[in-house]
Amino acid sequence: MPSASDPFALFESWFAEAEAQEPRDANAMILATADARGRPSARAVLLKAWDARGFVFYTNLDSRKGRELAANPQAALLFYWKSLSRQIRIEGETSLVDDAEADAYFATRPRESQLAAWASHQSEVMPEGRASFERALAEVTARFEGREVPRPPRWSGYRLAPDSFEFWREEPFRMHDRQVFARQADGGWEIRYLYP
Ligand SMILES: Cc1cc2nc3c(=O)[nH]c(=O)nc-3n(C[C@H](O)[C@H](O)[C@H](O)COP(=O)(O)O)c2cc1C
Repeated sequence: MPSASDPFALFESWFAEAEAQEPRDANAMILATADARGRPSARAVLLKAWDARGFVFYTNLDSRKGRELAANPQAALLFYWKSLSRQIRIEGETSLVDDAEADAYFATRPRESQLAAWASHQSEVMPEGRASFERALAEVTARFEGREVPRPPRWSGYRLAPDSFEFWREEPFRMHDRQVFARQADGGWEIRYLYP
């Protein structure tokens, strides 16, 4: 692997290749969280923004992941791009994006998705199955008829600020490349190579 000193620059080049080659959802990533007792859980979310501050995804703050992040803001992200045989692991602490950033992103979503965000009590049981969701959707559709749909108060984004990255690339005969970046106190990155 060509050595890089900046993990964000390496992320940018790998992500661009994934966007060009991965047939679907190159921005899908697995988000792992853990509850206050340390029990882990994982699910896919979509990367919606990233820069030197971190990696942003949007969700319902009362969902299981939202509750776990409230109890324990440490989380991990995993990108696995099958068509490239590459993965990137990213770990760090999450924090909520500010309201203006969440509002701006919410405003870009299709109206149907905005309404669904109001109607879905994400991760809660639907007492009457899908009919509960459809009724809630009809109710919010009527409520916001003829006006813009505001962002639901419990729907927002999290930014994971990385303190470590691992870039993994497949090589023949399991001689894979693993390059790890660990953030240092001065903000620089220590680089190490791990046995595959
Ligand atoms: C490809 C893919 C992308 C997804 N993106 C999101 C997302 O950006 N935000 C979200 O809340 N859920 C997303 N989901 C659904 C989550 O995986 C999950 O089912 C949901 O957020 C509830 O998770 P929780 O109960 O652990 O909070 C996505 C699922 C898939 C398969």
